[in-house]
Amino acid sequence: MEGRAAVLWGLGEDWQVEEVELDDPEPDEALVKMVAAGLCHSDEHIRTGDIPIALPAVGGHEGSGIVEKVGSRVTSLVPGDHVVMSFIPSCGRCRWCASGHQTLCDLGRYLMLGSIANGVPRMRAKGQPVSPMSLVGCFATHQVMNEASLVKIEPDLPLDKAALVSCGVTTGWGSAVHSANVRPGDVVVVVGIGGIGSNAVQGARMAGARWIVAVDPLESKREAGKRFGATHAAEDVFQAFALVNDLTSGQLADSAILTTDVARGDLLGPTMALVRKGGAVVVTAIGPFSQSEVNLSLFELTLWHKEVRGSLFGGGNPRVDIPQLLSFYKDGTLQLDELITKAYALEEVNEGYQDMRDGKNLRGVIVFD
Ligand SMILES: NC(=O)c1ccc[n+]([C@@H]2O[C@H](COP(=O)([O-])OP(=O)(O)OC[C@H]3O[C@@H](n4cnc5c(N)ncnc54)[C@H](O)[C@@H]3O)[C@@H](O)[C@H]2O)c1
Ligand SMILES: [Zn+2]
Ligand SMILES: [Zn+2]
Repeated sequence: MEGRAAVLWGLGEDWQVEEVELDDPEPDEALVKMVAAGLCHSDEHIRTGDIPIALPAVGGHEGSGIVEKVGSRVTSLVPGDHVVMSFIPSCGRCRWCASGHQTLCDLGRYLMLGSIANGVPRMRAKGQPVSPMSLVGCFATHQVMNEASLVKIEPDLPLDKAALVSCGVTTGWGSAVHSANVRPGDVVVVVGIGGIGSNAVQGARMAGARWIVAVDPLESKREAGKRFGATHAAEDVFQAFALVNDLTSGQLADSAILTTDVARGDLLGPTMALVRKGGAVVVTAIGPFSQSEVNLSLFELTLWHKEVRGSLFGGGNPRVDIPQLLSFYKDGTLQLDELITKAYALEEVNEGYQDMRDGKNLRGVIVFD
């Protein structure tokens, strides 16, 4: 079938909205008509080359839609089902899925390829195969995806809000709840208050943190952090250190979560300095593939018994966390409406990313016709 998609042809270029061709779903796949797609910073990482992917590529890994067609082996979905995408597929059977670590599913080995079935993308533009970002590629009117990348949701949920739970909300919330393991009474610092950081703040709030410090150079983001539950704000990690030092009489924070636009090696040392003896630094922000230098005190790491921990998709289980977070939204305990700064048409994807780079958006969302 035919559709339209935002395609990246070369590093650093703008997204081009192209007429594309889509194959029919293979036995384990479904055809999804997209309803909404969030503008997460990770797609910007493929534009800058921080995340390597074969080009041309179709962006988008945070989305929601309606199933139109399913392959012969699909058992969990039927046409008409409402779904959100999971940017890490989960098979449910591998060692990781079976032991409650779905974000580590072995199907992750296909993430940089075109499809799980045979490695070949299902989409073509100008006759060339187009790699789907994270096996999802949802900056498109339609996309064919594996059942492992789709999570069915309740039909009465608003799909534009639900799209955000596909990546940003689950990643940020899980970074606090699962990866930082925030406990009642904890002191938590979140460094970088964009789509991910605002949800790390929400996660820390819901886990019962006593003090949550939102760190961002932009005042609008610090204010947003407070709307999501931060009790304090700071302009940078050094100001945050003085604040946390003061608040805790020198004990420092239980955890610090790094959710800046790009993970930089020189930020790790000052972020680790924010946490107490035995405290944890969670690195959720993504650094360039080629970057291997990090500036931190190994002396402090060992002798203060600190931990530095990477966090993928919030370190939880998408098939548990996504429905649970949406039920929290229904209960009124999780804020989703407040996350969307602006809606864009697919043709406005570059304007949306410019607004993100200019710091105007907490989250921009593409809403399809
Ligand atoms: N680990 C995962 O599974 C996963 C999933 C999704 C996104 N991410 C990554 O998380 C990061 C954040 O994504 P996002 O969509 O929220 O980005 P964003 O652009 O919406 O937000 C980034 C925020 O960081 C702030 N910032 C920049 N430099 C800072 C500094 N030195 N100190 C404090 N704040 C600073 C910016 O002002 C901005 O508000 C990106 O690197 C993204 O790729 C990781
Ligand atoms: Zn994302
Ligand atoms: Zn698995």
